[in-house]
Amino acid sequence: MTEEAREEAARQRLFIDAARESVGRLKETTGRTPRACVVTFGCQMNARDSEKLTGILQACGYEITDSEDADFVIFNTCTVRENANVRLYGRLGALSPLRKKNPGMKIALCGCMMQEKDEIERIRQKYRYVSLVFGTHNLYRFAELMCACLMSDDQIIDVADQSDAIVENLPVERTYSFKSGVNIMFGCNNFCTYCIVPYVRGREKSREPKEILREIEHLSADGVIEIMLLGQNVNSYGKGLSQEITFAQLLKEAARIDGIERIRFMTSHPKDLSDELIDVMASCSKICPHLHLPVQSGSSRLLKKMNRHYTKESYLALVRRLRERIPDLSLSTDLIVGFPGETEEDFLQTLDIVRQVEYDSAFTFLYSKRTGTPAAAMEDQVPDEIAHERFDRLLSEVQTIGRRRSSRFEGTVQKVLVEEKNRQTEGLVTGRTPHNLVVHFPGDPSLIGTIVDVRLDQAHGFYYTGTVSEKK
Ligand code: SAH
Ligand code: SF4
Ligand code: F3S
Repeated sequence: MTEEAREEAARQRLFIDAARESVGRLKETTGRTPRACVVTFGCQMNARDSEKLTGILQACGYEITDSEDADFVIFNTCTVRENANVRLYGRLGALSPLRKKNPGMKIALCGCMMQEKDEIERIRQKYRYVSLVFGTHNLYRFAELMCACLMSDDQIIDVADQSDAIVENLPVERTYSFKSGVNIMFGCNNFCTYCIVPYVRGREKSREPKEILREIEHLSADGVIEIMLLGQNVNSYGKGLSQEITFAQLLKEAARIDGIERIRFMTSHPKDLSDELIDVMASCSKICPHLHLPVQSGSSRLLKKMNRHYTKESYLALVRRLRERIPDLSLSTDLIVGFPGETEEDFLQTLDIVRQVEYDSAFTFLYSKRTGTPAAAMEDQVPDEIAHERFDRLLSEVQTIGRRRSSRFEGTVQKVLVEEKNRQTEGLVTGRTPHNLVVHFPGDPSLIGTIVDVRLDQAHGFYYTGTVSEKK
Protein backbone atom coordinates (compact mmCIF):
# COMPACT_ATOMS: atom_id res chain seq x y z
CA MET A 1 0.00 0.00 0.00
CA THR A 2 1.30 3.51 -0.73
CA GLU A 3 1.97 5.92 2.12
CA GLU A 4 -1.00 7.95 0.92
CA ALA A 5 -3.34 4.93 1.09
CA ARG A 6 -2.08 4.05 4.56
CA GLU A 7 -2.84 7.58 5.79
CA GLU A 8 -6.27 7.42 4.19
CA ALA A 9 -7.06 4.15 5.99
CA ALA A 10 -6.01 5.71 9.29
CA ARG A 11 -8.19 8.75 8.54
CA GLN A 12 -11.18 6.51 7.84
CA ARG A 13 -10.68 4.72 11.14
CA LEU A 14 -11.01 8.08 12.89
CA PHE A 15 -14.33 8.59 11.12
CA ILE A 16 -15.46 5.18 12.32
CA ASP A 17 -14.79 6.35 15.89
CA ALA A 18 -16.73 9.55 15.27
CA ALA A 19 -19.67 7.70 13.68
CA ARG A 20 -19.66 5.33 16.63
CA GLU A 21 -20.29 8.27 18.91
CA SER A 22 -23.22 9.48 16.80
CA VAL A 23 -24.70 5.98 16.72
CA GLY A 24 -24.18 5.76 20.50
CA ARG A 25 -26.15 8.99 20.99
CA LEU A 26 -28.89 7.63 18.77
CA LYS A 27 -29.02 4.55 20.95
CA GLU A 28 -29.40 6.70 24.07
CA THR A 29 -32.28 8.71 22.63
CA THR A 30 -34.20 5.76 21.22
CA GLY A 31 -33.34 3.25 23.95
CA ARG A 32 -32.36 0.52 21.47
CA THR A 33 -29.38 -0.33 19.27
CA PRO A 34 -29.85 1.28 15.83
CA ARG A 35 -30.16 -1.24 13.00
CA ALA A 36 -28.59 -1.16 9.54
CA CYS A 37 -29.45 -3.13 6.42
CA VAL A 38 -27.29 -3.59 3.31
CA VAL A 39 -29.12 -4.63 0.13
CA THR A 40 -26.92 -5.91 -2.70
CA PHE A 41 -27.65 -6.01 -6.41
CA GLY A 42 -25.32 -7.32 -9.13
CA CYS A 43 -22.23 -9.44 -9.19
CA GLN A 44 -19.71 -11.01 -6.79
CA MET A 45 -17.74 -7.78 -6.84
CA ASN A 46 -20.69 -5.92 -5.39
CA ALA A 47 -21.29 -8.69 -2.88
CA ARG A 48 -17.72 -8.29 -1.64
CA ASP A 49 -18.13 -4.49 -1.49
CA SER A 50 -21.26 -5.01 0.59
CA GLU A 51 -19.24 -7.02 3.10
CA LYS A 52 -16.99 -3.98 3.42
CA LEU A 53 -20.01 -1.70 3.95
CA THR A 54 -21.38 -4.13 6.53
CA GLY A 55 -18.02 -4.25 8.33
CA ILE A 56 -17.96 -0.49 8.64
CA LEU A 57 -21.59 -0.25 9.76
CA GLN A 58 -20.92 -2.83 12.40
CA ALA A 59 -17.74 -1.09 13.55
CA CYS A 60 -19.81 2.08 13.88
CA GLY A 61 -22.12 0.34 16.33
CA TYR A 62 -25.07 -0.66 14.16
CA GLU A 63 -26.76 -3.99 14.58
CA ILE A 64 -26.92 -5.63 11.15
CA THR A 65 -30.30 -6.91 9.96
CA ASP A 66 -31.69 -8.41 6.76
CA SER A 67 -34.85 -6.38 7.12
CA GLU A 68 -35.26 -2.99 5.49
CA ASP A 69 -37.20 -1.93 8.58
CA ALA A 70 -33.95 -0.37 9.82
CA ASP A 71 -32.42 2.98 10.78
CA PHE A 72 -29.80 2.95 8.03
CA VAL A 73 -30.60 1.25 4.73
CA ILE A 74 -28.02 1.16 1.98
CA PHE A 75 -28.59 -0.15 -1.55
CA ASN A 76 -25.43 -1.26 -3.35
CA THR A 77 -26.59 -0.94 -6.95
CA CYS A 78 -25.85 -2.60 -10.29
CA THR A 79 -26.46 -1.15 -13.75
CA VAL A 80 -25.25 -3.88 -16.09
CA ARG A 81 -28.74 -4.27 -17.60
CA GLU A 82 -31.78 -2.03 -17.60
CA ASN A 83 -33.79 -4.32 -15.30
CA ALA A 84 -31.16 -3.87 -12.55
CA ASN A 85 -32.06 -0.15 -12.52
CA VAL A 86 -35.78 -0.80 -12.60
CA ARG A 87 -35.51 -3.12 -9.62
CA LEU A 88 -33.63 -0.53 -7.59
CA TYR A 89 -36.32 2.11 -8.03
CA GLY A 90 -38.94 -0.47 -7.15
CA ARG A 91 -37.19 -1.30 -3.89
CA LEU A 92 -36.66 2.39 -3.09
CA GLY A 93 -40.36 3.08 -3.56
CA ALA A 94 -41.26 0.13 -1.35
CA LEU A 95 -39.46 1.79 1.57
CA SER A 96 -42.18 4.46 1.79
CA PRO A 97 -44.30 2.92 4.57
CA LEU A 98 -41.19 2.10 6.60
CA ARG A 99 -39.97 5.68 6.27
CA LYS A 100 -43.31 6.96 7.54
CA LYS A 101 -43.04 4.70 10.57
CA ASN A 102 -39.43 5.69 11.24
CA PRO A 103 -38.87 9.31 10.12
CA GLY A 104 -35.23 9.22 11.29
CA MET A 105 -34.43 6.47 8.79
CA LYS A 106 -31.39 7.21 6.60
CA ILE A 107 -31.30 5.83 3.06
CA ALA A 108 -28.04 5.58 1.15
CA LEU A 109 -27.25 4.51 -2.42
CA CYS A 110 -23.89 3.43 -3.76
CA GLY A 111 -22.35 1.18 -6.40
CA CYS A 112 -22.25 1.05 -10.16
CA MET A 113 -25.52 2.79 -11.00
CA MET A 114 -24.44 5.83 -9.01
CA GLN A 115 -21.58 6.41 -11.45
CA GLU A 116 -24.15 7.46 -14.06
CA LYS A 117 -24.90 11.16 -14.29
CA ASP A 118 -28.51 10.71 -15.40
CA GLU A 119 -29.31 8.56 -12.40
CA ILE A 120 -27.75 11.07 -10.02
CA GLU A 121 -29.90 13.80 -11.56
CA ARG A 122 -33.01 11.67 -11.13
CA ILE A 123 -32.23 11.06 -7.46
CA ARG A 124 -31.44 14.71 -6.88
CA GLN A 125 -34.79 15.70 -8.33
CA LYS A 126 -37.22 12.93 -7.48
CA TYR A 127 -35.77 11.12 -4.50
CA ARG A 128 -35.01 13.93 -2.07
CA TYR A 129 -35.46 11.55 0.83
CA VAL A 130 -32.28 9.69 -0.10
CA SER A 131 -29.70 10.96 2.40
CA LEU A 132 -26.43 9.80 0.89
CA VAL A 133 -25.15 8.86 -2.55
CA PHE A 134 -21.63 7.72 -3.41
CA GLY A 135 -20.04 5.65 -6.16
CA THR A 136 -17.68 2.78 -6.78
CA HIS A 137 -14.48 4.82 -6.55
CA ASN A 138 -14.92 6.22 -3.06
CA LEU A 139 -16.46 3.29 -1.22
CA TYR A 140 -13.44 3.31 1.11
CA ARG A 141 -14.67 6.70 2.34
CA PHE A 142 -17.97 5.23 3.55
CA ALA A 143 -17.23 5.92 7.24
CA GLU A 144 -16.50 9.56 6.49
CA LEU A 145 -19.60 9.95 4.33
CA MET A 146 -21.76 8.23 6.91
CA CYS A 147 -20.52 10.65 9.57
CA ALA A 148 -21.48 13.58 7.38
CA CYS A 149 -24.85 11.99 6.72
CA LEU A 150 -25.58 11.35 10.39
CA MET A 151 -24.83 14.94 11.23
CA SER A 152 -26.83 16.62 8.49
CA ASP A 153 -30.31 16.54 7.01
CA ASP A 154 -29.10 17.60 3.57
CA GLN A 155 -28.83 15.18 0.70
CA ILE A 156 -25.13 14.35 0.33
CA ILE A 157 -23.92 13.31 -3.12
CA ASP A 158 -20.25 12.44 -3.48
CA VAL A 159 -19.32 10.54 -6.63
CA ALA A 160 -15.75 10.46 -8.00
CA ASP A 161 -14.87 9.96 -11.67
CA GLN A 162 -11.95 7.67 -11.00
CA SER A 163 -10.17 5.88 -8.20
CA ASP A 164 -6.97 7.27 -6.85
CA ALA A 165 -5.71 4.77 -4.29
CA ILE A 166 -6.47 1.18 -3.33
CA VAL A 167 -7.11 1.61 0.39
CA GLU A 168 -6.55 -1.63 2.32
CA ASN A 169 -7.29 -2.93 5.79
CA LEU A 170 -10.66 -1.42 6.62
CA PRO A 171 -13.20 -3.50 8.52
CA VAL A 172 -15.01 -6.28 6.59
CA GLU A 173 -17.86 -8.46 7.81
CA ARG A 174 -18.14 -11.69 5.85
CA THR A 175 -21.50 -13.22 4.98
CA TYR A 176 -20.04 -16.70 5.49
CA SER A 177 -17.47 -17.52 8.16
CA PHE A 178 -15.84 -20.26 6.08
CA LYS A 179 -15.66 -18.78 2.58
CA SER A 180 -14.80 -15.41 1.20
CA GLY A 181 -14.32 -13.42 -1.98
CA VAL A 182 -10.95 -11.73 -2.38
CA ASN A 183 -10.57 -8.82 -4.78
CA ILE A 184 -7.44 -9.19 -6.85
CA MET A 185 -8.18 -6.35 -9.23
CA PHE A 186 -10.67 -3.58 -9.78
CA GLY A 187 -12.14 -2.07 -12.94
CA CYS A 188 -11.96 -3.27 -16.53
CA ASN A 189 -10.07 -2.19 -19.67
CA ASN A 190 -11.79 -4.41 -22.19
CA PHE A 191 -14.63 -2.23 -23.38
CA CYS A 192 -16.82 -4.97 -24.81
CA THR A 193 -19.12 -2.80 -26.88
CA TYR A 194 -22.33 -3.73 -25.03
CA CYS A 195 -20.94 -3.33 -21.54
CA ILE A 196 -21.14 -0.45 -19.10
CA VAL A 197 -18.80 -1.91 -16.47
CA PRO A 198 -15.61 -0.13 -17.67
CA TYR A 199 -17.46 3.20 -17.46
CA VAL A 200 -18.78 2.70 -13.95
CA ARG A 201 -15.87 0.75 -12.43
CA GLY A 202 -13.03 2.59 -14.12
CA ARG A 203 -9.71 1.37 -15.45
CA GLU A 204 -8.23 -1.96 -14.51
CA LYS A 205 -6.02 -1.86 -11.43
CA SER A 206 -4.39 -4.90 -9.82
CA ARG A 207 -3.80 -5.19 -6.11
CA GLU A 208 -0.27 -5.89 -4.94
CA PRO A 209 0.27 -9.67 -4.63
CA LYS A 210 1.61 -9.35 -1.10
CA GLU A 211 -1.54 -7.53 0.00
CA ILE A 212 -3.71 -10.25 -1.57
CA LEU A 213 -1.71 -13.08 -0.03
CA ARG A 214 -1.67 -11.39 3.35
CA GLU A 215 -5.45 -11.04 3.20
CA ILE A 216 -5.81 -14.73 2.34
CA GLU A 217 -3.51 -15.68 5.23
CA HIS A 218 -5.65 -13.63 7.59
CA LEU A 219 -8.80 -15.20 6.21
CA SER A 220 -7.35 -18.65 6.69
CA ALA A 221 -6.36 -17.82 10.26
CA ASP A 222 -9.94 -16.68 10.76
CA GLY A 223 -11.40 -20.02 9.65
CA VAL A 224 -11.92 -19.50 5.91
CA ILE A 225 -11.31 -22.64 3.84
CA GLU A 226 -12.62 -21.53 0.44
CA ILE A 227 -11.69 -18.35 -1.39
CA MET A 228 -12.91 -16.88 -4.63
CA LEU A 229 -10.47 -14.54 -6.36
CA LEU A 230 -12.45 -11.73 -7.95
CA GLY A 231 -11.89 -9.47 -10.93
CA GLN A 232 -13.68 -8.59 -14.19
CA ASN A 233 -10.88 -10.29 -16.09
CA VAL A 234 -8.65 -12.19 -13.70
CA ASN A 235 -6.54 -13.50 -16.57
CA SER A 236 -5.00 -10.10 -17.13
CA TYR A 237 -4.06 -9.78 -13.45
CA GLY A 238 -0.70 -8.15 -12.77
CA LYS A 239 -0.59 -5.48 -15.47
CA GLY A 240 0.85 -2.23 -14.17
CA LEU A 241 2.37 -3.71 -11.01
CA SER A 242 6.04 -3.09 -10.27
CA GLN A 243 6.59 -6.79 -9.60
CA GLU A 244 6.11 -9.00 -12.65
CA ILE A 245 3.45 -11.59 -11.87
CA THR A 246 0.79 -13.48 -13.80
CA PHE A 247 -2.58 -14.69 -12.57
CA ALA A 248 -1.34 -18.29 -12.73
CA GLN A 249 1.59 -17.41 -10.47
CA LEU A 250 -0.70 -15.66 -8.02
CA LEU A 251 -2.92 -18.75 -7.93
CA LYS A 252 0.06 -20.96 -7.18
CA GLU A 253 1.09 -18.68 -4.32
CA ALA A 254 -2.44 -18.63 -2.93
CA ALA A 255 -2.60 -22.43 -3.05
CA ARG A 256 0.48 -22.61 -0.81
CA ILE A 257 -1.37 -20.97 2.06
CA ASP A 258 -2.16 -23.48 4.78
CA GLY A 259 -5.77 -23.91 5.73
CA ILE A 260 -7.14 -22.84 2.35
CA GLU A 261 -8.64 -25.96 0.83
CA ARG A 262 -10.51 -24.64 -2.18
CA ILE A 263 -9.79 -21.86 -4.61
CA ARG A 264 -12.20 -20.51 -7.17
CA PHE A 265 -11.97 -17.44 -9.38
CA MET A 266 -14.14 -15.19 -11.56
CA THR A 267 -14.22 -14.02 -14.29
CA SER A 268 -11.94 -15.46 -16.94
CA HIS A 269 -11.90 -13.68 -20.27
CA PRO A 270 -11.25 -16.27 -23.00
CA LYS A 271 -8.89 -13.95 -24.86
CA ASP A 272 -6.38 -13.91 -22.00
CA LEU A 273 -6.56 -17.47 -20.68
CA SER A 274 -2.96 -18.73 -20.79
CA ASP A 275 -1.59 -22.26 -21.09
CA GLU A 276 0.27 -21.47 -17.89
CA LEU A 277 -3.10 -21.09 -16.13
CA ILE A 278 -4.35 -24.39 -17.58
CA ASP A 279 -1.19 -26.09 -16.26
CA VAL A 280 -1.66 -24.62 -12.79
CA MET A 281 -5.32 -25.63 -12.73
CA ALA A 282 -4.46 -29.14 -13.87
CA SER A 283 -1.71 -29.64 -11.33
CA CYS A 284 -3.08 -27.98 -8.22
CA SER A 285 -5.73 -29.96 -6.37
CA LYS A 286 -6.91 -26.96 -4.34
CA ILE A 287 -8.10 -25.17 -7.47
CA CYS A 288 -11.67 -26.24 -8.14
CA PRO A 289 -12.30 -27.97 -11.48
CA HIS A 290 -14.84 -25.36 -12.53
CA LEU A 291 -14.33 -22.50 -14.91
CA HIS A 292 -16.70 -19.67 -15.73
CA LEU A 293 -15.75 -18.76 -19.28
CA PRO A 294 -18.22 -16.27 -20.77
CA VAL A 295 -18.59 -16.74 -24.50
CA GLN A 296 -21.41 -14.19 -25.10
CA SER A 297 -22.07 -15.39 -28.66
CA GLY A 298 -21.13 -18.19 -31.02
CA SER A 299 -20.97 -15.95 -34.07
CA SER A 300 -17.43 -14.80 -34.88
CA ARG A 301 -18.92 -11.87 -36.77
CA LEU A 302 -20.80 -10.68 -33.67
CA LEU A 303 -17.88 -11.44 -31.35
CA LYS A 304 -15.89 -8.98 -33.45
CA LYS A 305 -18.63 -6.37 -33.15
CA MET A 306 -18.67 -7.05 -29.40
CA ASN A 307 -14.89 -6.40 -29.25
CA ARG A 308 -14.26 -9.75 -27.57
CA HIS A 309 -10.98 -10.56 -29.38
CA TYR A 310 -11.66 -14.24 -30.02
CA THR A 311 -13.59 -16.25 -32.59
CA LYS A 312 -15.92 -19.20 -32.31
CA GLU A 313 -13.07 -21.44 -33.52
CA SER A 314 -10.45 -20.09 -31.14
CA TYR A 315 -12.88 -20.41 -28.21
CA LEU A 316 -13.63 -24.01 -29.13
CA ALA A 317 -9.91 -24.72 -29.44
CA LEU A 318 -9.41 -23.26 -25.96
CA VAL A 319 -12.15 -25.48 -24.54
CA ARG A 320 -10.47 -28.49 -26.16
CA ARG A 321 -7.12 -27.60 -24.58
CA LEU A 322 -8.80 -27.17 -21.20
CA ARG A 323 -10.60 -30.49 -21.36
CA GLU A 324 -7.51 -32.36 -22.52
CA ARG A 325 -5.65 -31.23 -19.40
CA ILE A 326 -8.59 -31.22 -16.95
CA PRO A 327 -10.87 -34.01 -18.18
CA ASP A 328 -13.92 -33.57 -15.96
CA LEU A 329 -13.77 -29.77 -15.86
CA SER A 330 -17.13 -28.07 -15.33
CA LEU A 331 -17.72 -25.16 -17.65
CA SER A 332 -20.23 -22.37 -17.22
CA THR A 333 -20.79 -19.32 -19.38
CA ASP A 334 -22.67 -16.10 -20.07
CA LEU A 335 -24.64 -15.62 -23.29
CA ILE A 336 -26.22 -12.51 -24.77
CA VAL A 337 -29.17 -12.77 -27.13
CA GLY A 338 -30.27 -9.93 -29.39
CA PHE A 339 -27.03 -7.99 -29.71
CA PRO A 340 -27.46 -5.32 -32.44
CA GLY A 341 -27.35 -6.83 -35.90
CA GLU A 342 -27.84 -10.42 -34.67
CA THR A 343 -29.32 -12.45 -37.53
CA GLU A 344 -30.93 -15.87 -37.36
CA GLU A 345 -27.65 -17.24 -38.76
CA ASP A 346 -25.67 -15.59 -35.93
CA PHE A 347 -28.09 -16.97 -33.40
CA LEU A 348 -27.78 -20.48 -34.85
CA GLN A 349 -24.03 -20.18 -34.34
CA THR A 350 -24.69 -19.48 -30.66
CA LEU A 351 -26.91 -22.53 -30.39
CA ASP A 352 -24.20 -24.52 -32.14
CA ILE A 353 -21.40 -23.48 -29.79
CA VAL A 354 -23.61 -24.26 -26.80
CA ARG A 355 -24.18 -27.75 -28.19
CA GLN A 356 -20.53 -28.28 -28.98
CA VAL A 357 -19.19 -27.12 -25.62
CA GLU A 358 -21.96 -28.69 -23.55
CA TYR A 359 -21.89 -26.23 -20.68
CA ASP A 360 -22.72 -27.44 -17.20
CA SER A 361 -24.62 -24.22 -16.70
CA ALA A 362 -25.15 -20.96 -18.53
CA PHE A 363 -26.55 -17.54 -17.73
CA THR A 364 -28.53 -16.24 -20.67
CA PHE A 365 -29.24 -12.52 -20.97
CA LEU A 366 -31.37 -10.46 -23.28
CA TYR A 367 -29.22 -7.72 -24.73
CA SER A 368 -29.90 -4.52 -22.85
CA LYS A 369 -29.04 -1.17 -24.39
CA ARG A 370 -26.71 0.79 -22.09
CA THR A 371 -26.50 4.49 -22.90
CA GLY A 372 -22.94 5.57 -23.63
CA THR A 373 -21.68 2.19 -24.84
CA PRO A 374 -20.75 1.79 -28.54
CA ALA A 375 -23.42 -0.89 -29.09
CA ALA A 376 -26.19 1.49 -28.02
CA ALA A 377 -25.43 3.59 -31.09
CA MET A 378 -25.28 0.64 -33.49
CA GLU A 379 -27.90 0.29 -36.16
CA ASP A 380 -30.08 -2.81 -36.50
CA GLN A 381 -31.19 -3.11 -32.90
CA VAL A 382 -33.02 -6.45 -32.78
CA PRO A 383 -36.81 -6.14 -32.26
CA ASP A 384 -37.91 -7.31 -28.78
CA GLU A 385 -40.15 -10.01 -30.15
CA ILE A 386 -37.39 -11.70 -32.10
CA ALA A 387 -34.92 -11.39 -29.22
CA HIS A 388 -37.41 -12.93 -26.79
CA GLU A 389 -38.17 -15.80 -29.12
CA ARG A 390 -34.45 -16.57 -29.53
CA PHE A 391 -33.93 -16.20 -25.80
CA ASP A 392 -36.52 -18.91 -25.11
CA ARG A 393 -34.99 -21.25 -27.64
CA LEU A 394 -31.51 -20.76 -26.16
CA LEU A 395 -32.69 -21.14 -22.59
CA SER A 396 -34.39 -24.41 -23.34
CA GLU A 397 -31.23 -25.70 -25.05
CA VAL A 398 -28.86 -24.73 -22.23
CA GLN A 399 -31.21 -26.23 -19.68
CA THR A 400 -31.46 -29.54 -21.46
CA ILE A 401 -27.69 -29.75 -21.86
CA GLY A 402 -27.03 -28.52 -18.30
CA ARG A 403 -29.36 -31.13 -16.84
CA ARG A 404 -27.72 -33.90 -18.78
CA ARG A 405 -24.21 -32.70 -17.95
CA SER A 406 -24.79 -32.19 -14.26
CA SER A 407 -26.24 -35.63 -13.80
CA ARG A 408 -22.90 -37.17 -14.73
CA PHE A 409 -21.86 -37.35 -11.09
CA GLU A 410 -24.88 -39.38 -9.99
CA GLY A 411 -23.82 -42.23 -7.75
CA THR A 412 -20.34 -40.83 -7.06
CA VAL A 413 -18.96 -39.65 -3.73
CA GLN A 414 -17.87 -36.01 -3.74
CA LYS A 415 -16.30 -33.65 -1.26
CA VAL A 416 -19.02 -31.21 -0.28
CA LEU A 417 -18.41 -27.94 1.55
CA VAL A 418 -21.50 -27.55 3.72
CA GLU A 419 -22.74 -23.97 3.43
CA GLU A 420 -26.09 -23.63 5.18
CA LYS A 421 -29.17 -25.23 6.61
CA ASN A 422 -31.56 -26.17 3.86
CA ARG A 423 -34.00 -23.32 3.40
CA GLN A 424 -37.02 -25.52 2.73
CA THR A 425 -36.61 -28.74 4.63
CA GLU A 426 -35.80 -29.13 8.30
CA GLY A 427 -33.00 -31.64 8.92
CA LEU A 428 -31.28 -31.06 5.56
CA VAL A 429 -28.12 -29.07 4.91
CA THR A 430 -26.90 -27.64 1.61
CA GLY A 431 -23.40 -27.57 0.21
CA ARG A 432 -21.33 -27.47 -2.96
CA THR A 433 -19.04 -29.91 -4.72
CA PRO A 434 -15.72 -28.75 -6.20
CA HIS A 435 -17.51 -28.68 -9.58
CA ASN A 436 -19.89 -26.12 -8.09
CA LEU A 437 -22.90 -28.43 -7.94
CA VAL A 438 -25.41 -27.86 -5.16
CA VAL A 439 -26.22 -30.87 -2.95
CA HIS A 440 -28.94 -31.19 -0.30
CA PHE A 441 -28.53 -33.97 2.24
CA PRO A 442 -29.56 -34.96 5.75
CA GLY A 443 -27.09 -33.49 8.19
CA ASP A 444 -26.59 -31.55 11.35
CA PRO A 445 -26.05 -27.77 11.14
CA SER A 446 -22.79 -28.32 13.04
CA LEU A 447 -21.40 -29.56 9.69
CA ILE A 448 -21.66 -26.05 8.24
CA GLY A 449 -18.21 -24.82 7.22
CA THR A 450 -16.71 -28.30 6.96
CA ILE A 451 -16.01 -30.55 3.98
CA VAL A 452 -17.73 -33.93 4.09
CA ASP A 453 -17.88 -36.91 1.75
CA VAL A 454 -21.35 -37.09 0.28
CA ARG A 455 -22.78 -39.67 -2.07
CA LEU A 456 -24.77 -37.94 -4.82
CA ASP A 457 -27.80 -40.19 -4.87
CA GLN A 458 -30.03 -38.43 -7.32
CA ALA A 459 -29.66 -35.61 -9.83
CA HIS A 460 -32.60 -33.20 -10.03
CA GLY A 461 -31.70 -30.89 -12.89
CA PHE A 462 -29.32 -28.45 -11.33
CA TYR A 463 -28.99 -29.87 -7.85
CA TYR A 464 -28.49 -33.20 -6.17
CA THR A 465 -29.87 -34.98 -3.17
CA GLY A 466 -27.37 -37.11 -1.35
CA THR A 467 -26.31 -38.85 1.85
CA VAL A 468 -23.17 -38.64 3.92
CA SER A 469 -20.85 -41.38 2.78
CA GLU A 470 -19.17 -43.69 5.24
CA LYS A 471 -16.39 -44.28 2.75
CA LYS A 472 -13.29 -42.19 3.54
N1 SAH B 1 -16.33 -9.30 -16.75
C1 SAH B 1 -17.18 -10.37 -17.01
C2 SAH B 1 -18.65 -10.07 -17.02
C3 SAH B 1 -19.24 -8.98 -16.25
S1 SAH B 1 -20.90 -8.60 -16.59
C4 SAH B 1 -16.83 -10.95 -18.36
O1 SAH B 1 -16.30 -10.30 -19.20
O2 SAH B 1 -17.16 -12.06 -18.59
C5 SAH B 1 -21.69 -10.18 -16.52
C6 SAH B 1 -22.39 -10.57 -17.77
O3 SAH B 1 -23.43 -9.65 -18.03
C7 SAH B 1 -21.56 -10.54 -19.04
O4 SAH B 1 -20.77 -11.67 -19.20
C8 SAH B 1 -22.59 -10.40 -20.12
O5 SAH B 1 -23.03 -11.66 -20.55
C9 SAH B 1 -23.74 -9.70 -19.42
N2 SAH B 1 -23.92 -8.34 -19.91
C10 SAH B 1 -23.07 -7.30 -19.80
N3 SAH B 1 -23.58 -6.22 -20.41
C11 SAH B 1 -24.79 -6.58 -20.92
C12 SAH B 1 -25.79 -5.92 -21.68
N4 SAH B 1 -25.67 -4.65 -22.04
N5 SAH B 1 -26.91 -6.61 -22.00
C13 SAH B 1 -27.05 -7.91 -21.64
N6 SAH B 1 -26.13 -8.58 -20.96
C14 SAH B 1 -25.00 -7.94 -20.60
FE1 SF4 C 1 -17.77 -5.89 -19.41
FE2 SF4 C 1 -16.21 -7.03 -21.19
FE3 SF4 C 1 -15.15 -5.90 -19.04
FE4 SF4 C 1 -16.53 -8.13 -18.81
S1 SF4 C 1 -14.59 -7.88 -19.92
S2 SF4 C 1 -16.71 -6.32 -17.54
S3 SF4 C 1 -18.10 -7.89 -20.34
S4 SF4 C 1 -16.21 -4.85 -20.69
FE1 F3S D 1 -23.39 -4.82 -11.94
FE2 F3S D 1 -21.36 -3.35 -11.33
FE3 F3S D 1 -21.15 -5.93 -11.13
S1 F3S D 1 -22.74 -3.01 -13.01
S2 F3S D 1 -22.55 -6.69 -12.67
S3 F3S D 1 -22.50 -4.67 -9.97
S4 F3S D 1 -19.56 -4.52 -11.71
